[in-house]
Amino acid sequence: MYPGSDHEFGGVSTDLKLSVVEGYLHGFTTALRKHFRELWYIDAFAGTGERTVRYAAQEANLLVPATEEKVERRRGSARIAIDVNPQFDRLIFMDESPKHSKALSALKGNHPTRKIDVLEGDANVAIRELIRGQSWSGTRAVMFLDPYGMSVNWDTLEAIQSTGAIDVWYLVSLSGLFRQAARNGRALDKSKRAALTRMLGTEEWEEAWYKRDAKLDLFGTLDDQQSRIADVEAMDEFVGKRLKSLFPKVLKPMRLKDSRGIPQFALYFAISNREPSAIALATKIAGHILNSGR
Ligand SMILES: C[S@@+](CC[C@H](N)C(=O)[O-])C[C@H]1O[C@@H](n2cnc3c(N)ncnc32)[C@H](O)[C@@H]1O
Repeated sequence: MYPGSDHEFGGVSTDLKLSVVEGYLHGFTTALRKHFRELWYIDAFAGTGERTVRYAAQEANLLVPATEEKVERRRGSARIAIDVNPQFDRLIFMDESPKHSKALSALKGNHPTRKIDVLEGDANVAIRELIRGQSWSGTRAVMFLDPYGMSVNWDTLEAIQSTGAIDVWYLVSLSGLFRQAARNGRALDKSKRAALTRMLGTEEWEEAWYKRDAKLDLFGTLDDQQSRIADVEAMDEFVGKRLKSLFPKVLKPMRLKDSRGIPQFALYFAISNREPSAIALATKIAGHILNSGR
């Protein structure tokens, strides 16, 4: 543990998500090490480098004795990426939280021989600044987009794709989409609409997810309302189609569920490079990992 690294997040599927990404990072540096001068890892929602997992104290019952609260500290994505072997040449950690950025700087301090940049601020801005003016010849990168909710803007994905050099793991919050797209269209206010459009890059979600329901009320006044007909499945399918309209290749996502078995997230893998050989290689590595984790 290092200063400020305490960070509780995620649920039962978090270890699975991180092990899928870790598997890809190993496969990526192993396969590309000899072919590229620079291999980068970009963690746009990097956290602190650690994940705190708390097990609540349990009272004794007839079957088991009492247990005290237990706190475990596991590696978060930033530490996992530092440990990858063959190593990345450069690691870029972004986080908008000053506390988390401080923890990331402390993590960087523990690895003085590694080239690590910590960028504090909104990932949407930081990614565009990083990409602007960067030549990608001789460089390939993996980016992990692991927000809490719906923080990745569509134009950020456009900027990533425009590089032709970055493979992306993108955790899409299905529960976030479900919450924003209120079942009753009346609750779909301006800010909810704007959040959905910012993330999906189109207003077409409204047409696809809602049905108009115009009827006359008791007083003969036209009551024109709409209600959501799309379930999580349909929303995820819409996200998949949007990503496929932008990236040359998008793999079938892995669904991550909560402890009740309800889908919370979809972990997508998208490839920016249009070269058939690059697509084939990345698909082979990621496909194998995704299939073994499903
Ligand atoms: C789910 S956590 C990331 C966990 C991390 N991948 C790990 O495995 O340790 C999401 C992180 O995103 C950060 N965050 C939230 N909104 C952000 C934004 N707009 N730009 C950059 N970071 C943001 C939060 O401070 C938090 O540390």
